[in-house]
Amino acid sequence: MGSGLKPSSMSFIILLLNSVLLNLSLMASKTPDPTPAAWPLQFHAITFMNNSGTLQKIDLWYDWPNGRNFNIIQNQLGKLIYDLEWDNGTSYHYTVGSSQECSVSHLSVGILRPNWLEGATYLGQQEFDGFLCNVWEKVDFIWYYEDVITKRPVHWVYYSGYTAHVMTFEVGAVLDDAEWQAPAYCFKEPQKDDTPAVVSIANSGLSNGRLMWEMFNNASMNL
Ligand SMILES: *[C@@H]1O[C@H](CO)[C@@H](O)[C@H](O)[C@H]1NC(C)=O
Ligand SMILES: *[C@@H]1O[C@H](CO)[C@@H](O)[C@H](O)[C@H]1NC(C)=O
Ligand SMILES: *[C@@H]1O[C@H](CO)[C@@H](O)[C@H](O)[C@H]1NC(C)=O
Repeated sequence: MGSGLKPSSMSFIILLLNSVLLNLSLMASKTPDPTPAAWPLQFHAITFMNNSGTLQKIDLWYDWPNGRNFNIIQNQLGKLIYDLEWDNGTSYHYTVGSSQECSVSHLSVGILRPNWLEGATYLGQQEFDGFLCNVWEKVDFIWYYEDVITKRPVHWVYYSGYTAHVMTFEVGAVLDDAEWQAPAYCFKEPQKDDTPAVVSIANSGLSNGRLMWEMFNNASMNL
């Protein structure tokens, strides 16, 4: 009397408790897939790029609060090309010095959002360039490798095979405002004989994620 629970109900409670604990441990072991770190709002990175054997060094200045992104592209033993993108869709591609080439393009998309990798599919871990990385793929557009420990990008590959190796990644670095001014010859009325220079520069600067994204979207729409 007064002992309360009968042995049978006692064992029922133990059974119940066991199954609760088992479920809890199962839930704990099923951790969600890691997600790529959002891009810092401002950073400077130096990347080495390989476009089907054509090598480039790119100084990338990402500046989200000011709605601008700069790719300063040194082609190996070749042209130095400035590829300045504004979030309103306008891009200036130009050279400086004696050649003074410039082409202006208007894309339908702004610069990459800091969270542009959101929704990417996790592919697991892989060692790349000597770093243990988490790897994601986004809509067959990009494969992205991020250092497991520091969360810094190490490497990415666009659908075209264009690859990036990240050499430096300085969070918070900002390029002086004066450097973002496209030269005066970008703003003069185009002359008829400008076309060859404009075409050569536009073709040599296939660098930025935004342009590739628009081309990719256009290509997917035509499928
Ligand atoms: C660049 O990529 C090509 C393949 O597209 C490869 O054959 C070549 O070895 C790469 N070059 C470097 C320096 O990684
Ligand atoms: C976008 O912004 C840049 C920089 O302020 C400017 O030079 C360009 O004319 C603008 N483009 C449009 C379409 O307003
Ligand atoms: C994408 O398609 C639009 C509309 O057809 C076109 O204006 C734009 O130039 C295309 N962009 C690229 C990068 O091919």
